[in-house]
Amino acid sequence: MYPLIRNRRLRSSDAIRHLVRETIITPSDFLVPLFVVEGKGVKEEIPSMPNYYRMSLDILEKEVKELWQMGLCAVLLFVKVDDSLKDNKGAEALNPDGLMQRAVKTVKNACPELLVMTDVALDPFSSYGHDGIVADGVILNDDTCEVLAEMSISHATAGADFVAPSDMMDGRILTIREALEEEGFQNTGIMSYSAKYASAFYGPFRDALDSAPVDIKNVPKDKKTYQMDAANRFEALKETQQDIDEGADIVMVKPGLCYLDIVREIKNEVEVPVAVYQVSGEYAMLKAAAEKGWLDHDAVMMEQLIAIKRAGANIIASYFAKDAVKLM
Ligand code: PBG
Repeated sequence: MYPLIRNRRLRSSDAIRHLVRETIITPSDFLVPLFVVEGKGVKEEIPSMPNYYRMSLDILEKEVKELWQMGLCAVLLFVKVDDSLKDNKGAEALNPDGLMQRAVKTVKNACPELLVMTDVALDPFSSYGHDGIVADGVILNDDTCEVLAEMSISHATAGADFVAPSDMMDGRILTIREALEEEGFQNTGIMSYSAKYASAFYGPFRDALDSAPVDIKNVPKDKKTYQMDAANRFEALKETQQDIDEGADIVMVKPGLCYLDIVREIKNEVEVPVAVYQVSGEYAMLKAAAEKGWLDHDAVMMEQLIAIKRAGANIIASYFAKDAVKLM
């Protein structure tokens, strides 16, 4: 009791603060999202994501070598495909020589030990900007799962270590796991976006990939019939437990900062690694505030990343990964 117990003793110098620090971020905590485009020498900044780029395969090769040098050991690949290749069923997603398949091979060639995860969902390939097949104003669940399974096989064949389904269809983890087993990909993992909310924070990402739902009659304008309602907590546990039962190796909560209560709750309940995706809108907000001189970029960035890890994240998918590691 005071004055015998004085909490400030443990805060009185850098050394003691380091000694008693409970949460430490290291480069190996991060999963680095990367946006890939066709072309050569292409490195284009995404307007709503300052200092983040879409890159062609040759630049991607340099980028992953740099990441590996920095101690970053895992990437999550997304592709931006030309409108002319988009259709309702995402046929291009299955092209053995498609951009994603070539991107996986490029990364594996450049850096064989770097862990490669691939985004599995139809939206970058969908003429409607949806994560699944659209029919009569709805997103078809089971038909979409079949395509996602084929897509997963295609990514595994190209050399992906993990597939990361980000679509939120029911039962897709089981469909994908069974398909991978059948095709002999017993060692290909699944990181499931298990508690993914219908969030307005995904805006800049949809700019990056030009993948927003289109405004056409009989096409849903948002993703609320498959992504979760921001108001729900128990549902996140149910979704996550189901994905684990279906065979997910890693589960995920997305977005990050507004959902850290969910992260902690899931972390307390499950025995698989929990990933958290600090999404594009979270990145954009800090970049914008820092540009205006209203927030200290580096300090706020580190505080946010620490908060995500403290909440229970074993893996942090973040556009800040490189910036953060440079400060370590
Ligand atoms: C789509 C997908 C999205 C993100 C990752 N995969 C957007 C969406 O669901 O519309 C968002 C990532 C981010 O905002 O950084 N399958």
